[in-house]
Parts: sequence; structure tokens; C-alpha cells
Amino acid sequence: MVNLLEANNLRVSYNTAEGAHTVLDGVSFFIGQGESVGLVGESGSGKTTLGLSILKLLPSNAAYTAGSILYKGKDLLTMDEKSLSRIRGKDISIVFQDPLASLDPLFTVGYQISEAVKAHRPGMEKAELEKAVVSIMGDVGLPEPVRIRELYPHELSGGMRQRVMIAIALVNNPFLLIADEPTTALDVTIQAQIIDLLKHAKEQYNLTILLITHDLGVAFELVDRLIIMYGGVIVEQGSKQEIFSRPFHPYTKALLMAIPELMDIALNAPSRLSAIPGSVRANYDNYVGCRFYDRCSYRTKECLDKEPELQEYSPRHPARCIHPLL
Ligand SMILES: Nc1ncnc2c1ncn2[C@@H]1O[C@H](COP(=O)(O)OP(=O)(O)OP(=O)(O)O)[C@@H](O)[C@H]1O
Ligand SMILES: [Mg+2]
Repeated sequence: MVNLLEANNLRVSYNTAEGAHTVLDGVSFFIGQGESVGLVGESGSGKTTLGLSILKLLPSNAAYTAGSILYKGKDLLTMDEKSLSRIRGKDISIVFQDPLASLDPLFTVGYQISEAVKAHRPGMEKAELEKAVVSIMGDVGLPEPVRIRELYPHELSGGMRQRVMIAIALVNNPFLLIADEPTTALDVTIQAQIIDLLKHAKEQYNLTILLITHDLGVAFELVDRLIIMYGGVIVEQGSKQEIFSRPFHPYTKALLMAIPELMDIALNAPSRLSAIPGSVRANYDNYVGCRFYDRCSYRTKECLDKEPELQEYSPRHPARCIHPLL
């Protein structure tokens, strides 16, 4: 089977006043059709950059310095803009953290959903278009669609606005949904509702999902497989069961330890909240060795000799560490 999406050795840098900083440093992963994959890591690890790079939506100071991103076997990075615009919002959709920033305050939400349809099906009859809008609004749990579609974004709650964003993302029946912190800006009860909605949409639309989150607890609810990032590289990958029951990388273990409820489920260990001391560096340009070294309780001086390779310590479960927690 061809992977739906496959990134190979992706490198991205941002040009800044102090020079170019590499923020994705050789990232490779795949997503199979129908899978849901969680991309997890702390702030600054490169998650949004990775999500945006898939659709070539990076800001103008970004540069792709190496690698490829294959969608159904075709490289999105070298594809012409016209072909790419047929894929954006049709085959692959993206939902961001802040719906207010993505919605246009000057247009009703119904109009904005219908524009998303028209972008890919320009000749659609008015009645059919209306039907599509009302139907997707029902699917994403927007009650009374005929009334709500006439409202402006500021007239809706944060949770309802996120439902509108999800409606826009799903209305063209995409294969892949990239959701970048879709629940981070919402309060806890609403978060749970949006996660439920995504779970439901996954079944109903046979969706493949890339969920970007700094919260392993949110990922636990929705995904089959996890990719853990740290400082612009993947440090561990594996099925959710594998990662939760036996994390190999000290960083993954530390992330898990920070979620007491999950520790109980996953490791049968007593709850203990332990935030990870220290923080990720601003950049790893000219850095040699393991990027987690400064914060690792298992470090030895060998960890600074060179960047550890990703090694498969168990099948389909690689980790980038020379002292894995086996
Ligand atoms: N437009 C930009 N110009 C320069 N540097 C940037 C730009 N956008 C992001 N960066 C830097 O790139 C790195 C990765 O940022 P990114 O937003 O991808 O991380 P993230 O994992 O999504 O973080 P968060 O959890 O805070 O959303 C960070 O060091 C960030 O400061
Ligand atoms: Mg981000």
C-alpha cells in the first residue's frame, strides 16, 4: 500500500535578522490511509512548521532546504501551484488553534462555508450549495443551521467557531485533516466535545488525521500512533499502546510523567506530577549531540559525541537515544 502521506528528510529553516535557523532538521515519517497520528512536542519543537510545510503554507521567510513530502506518491514541494491549490482544502484540509484568526469577521459563517465549497466546485447550483452547507453544519453539531449560518463569527462561542472551522475543513470531503492544536484555545468541557466531534468525523468521513498537540492527553483520546518531536527532530515514534506502555526516550517518559491520569492507565504507576525542568533551546544550529541532553536525567558524556540516530528498539518503534529505557 502506498502511504497517503510520506515525508522524507524534510529540512526547513527560517531567515531571521540573526541569520537562518534550521527548525526542522531531517524529519521523516509516514501516515497510512485511515490512520490518525499525533504529532506531540513542547512549544517551539517545530510542530506547526511541519503542519504548514505539508501544504506549502509556510511564511515567506521560510525555506525548504532539503527533503520531500509525498502525497499519494507525488511530491507536494515540487508540484506546480495550480495542482497544489486543487489539493488544498479538497484532498488535505487544515484546522488551526484560533478560529477567530482564520475566519473573516465581515462575512457570515454560512457564506464562508459555501465559499469553501465553491472554491473546488465552482459550477454548483445555489440550492445544492445551500444543501451542502446545511448538511455539513448538521454533521459538525451546529444546531439550527438555517439560523446559525446567517451569524457572523463574533456572534458565536469559541467552541461553535471551531465547529465552523471544522465544517469548512470537511465540507469537500478531504482524505487528510491536519488539526493544529484544535482544542488548545477552548475550555476543558468544550475541548472534550471537539475531540468527540473529530472522532466521529473520522468514522463518518473515513478521515486520515494528523493531530498536532503539545498535550499527550488529547492525543491519547484520538490517535492510533504517535510521533514525538523535540527541537526540530523526531525523537520517538510508535503505536499509542507502545509509547504509553514503554516509552524508550527519556523525553517521552517525562512527557508521560507530566500527565498523572495517563500514568495510571499506561504504566500502572502511582500518580506523580512532574513537569520537565528546563526548556528547549531557541535553536540547535551548530549543536552536536543529543538535543535533550541539558534536561535529561539519564545523560552521560557519550550523549554529546554526536546526534543519536533513530534506532528501532522494538518493531516500528524507533527512538533517538543511546540510553533507551528498555
Ligand atoms: N515565521 C517565523 N520566523 C522565524 N522563526 C519562526 C517563525 N515561526 C516559527 N519560528 C521558530 O521556529 C521554531 C518552531 O516553531 P513552531 O511554531 O513550528 O513550533 P510549535 O511546536 O508549533 O510550537 P507551539 O507549541 O508553541 O505552537 C521556534 O523556534 C519558533 O520560534
Ligand atoms: Mg504550533
